[in-house]
Amino acid sequence: MSATLIDGKAFAGRVRTQVAEHVARLKADHGITPGLAVVLVGEDPASQVYVRSKGKQTVEVGMKSVEHKLDVSTAQEDLLAVINQLNNDPEIHGILVQLPLPDHLDEDMVINAIAPEKDVDGFHISNVGLLGTGQKSMVPCTPLGCLMMLRDHHGSLSGMDAVVIGRSNIVGKPMAQLLLGDSCTVTIAHSRTKDLADVVRRADIVVAAVGRPEMVPGDWIKPGATVIDVGINRLDAPEKGEGKTRLVGDADFESCAAVAGAITPVPGGVGPMTIACLLANTVTACCRANRLEEPEGLTA
Ligand code: GUN
Repeated sequence: MSATLIDGKAFAGRVRTQVAEHVARLKADHGITPGLAVVLVGEDPASQVYVRSKGKQTVEVGMKSVEHKLDVSTAQEDLLAVINQLNNDPEIHGILVQLPLPDHLDEDMVINAIAPEKDVDGFHISNVGLLGTGQKSMVPCTPLGCLMMLRDHHGSLSGMDAVVIGRSNIVGKPMAQLLLGDSCTVTIAHSRTKDLADVVRRADIVVAAVGRPEMVPGDWIKPGATVIDVGINRLDAPEKGEGKTRLVGDADFESCAAVAGAITPVPGGVGPMTIACLLANTVTACCRANRLEEPEGLTA
């Protein structure tokens, strides 16, 4: 391996420390405790793990954590009533509805019912529009974490060629907007892209966010490029014992690390940054709600 490892776990630890320091100042100087509410509908095991982890980390940085766990059969109007109550709760500065929602619920309508200034996921149509037009917004957590790591590694991203593989509303599209905002030349590639290998080979920055295990091989990577691997895929690992699994990214780590200049590992790369950025967004939302100075370096 010749690539520098971008240590997302350590970086996320530093972001949490910054958040905790800002929370302590808000409490001491203004008597304000930032509050984050997480709404989970149903019992999807992966979502339960995420929600537990979010609640634990929220408390660890000194913020108030509220969890609403609703039955899988919750009606749309009842979910909207919970969101409305949180929108009007002055102790809550951030609201996150864990996705995916059960099929009978209208995800777009639910997300757009969250007050935009409390939308710490940055998924509300107002925040999408603000980001797209370069205005101050709440920025989706995973792309924000990727941007922080890229800025930390490169300093300026201006003029770099960036390829984002994946066009989801959660990662691909906002990631492309953020890179454009930092003056990269941005290509969004997806499942219908012709000659994906050639497109990726031109890139100084490759963000892989497709959810397909190890689909980007090292011979697609321009020597010295930076690879940000957003994928978290679980594969069977019989070599580790019966029933065992291992986590892999969307990039083939061994072959990409041999060519790239820098790469994020899976696990320990982008993953830990997502929750750290959620905490950062909650502090930012709290500061904006109270017309106080925002923490530096924690927003786009
Ligand atoms: N499910 C998977 N990723 C996310 C995320 O970033 N936010 C929410 N709300 N749900 C998710």
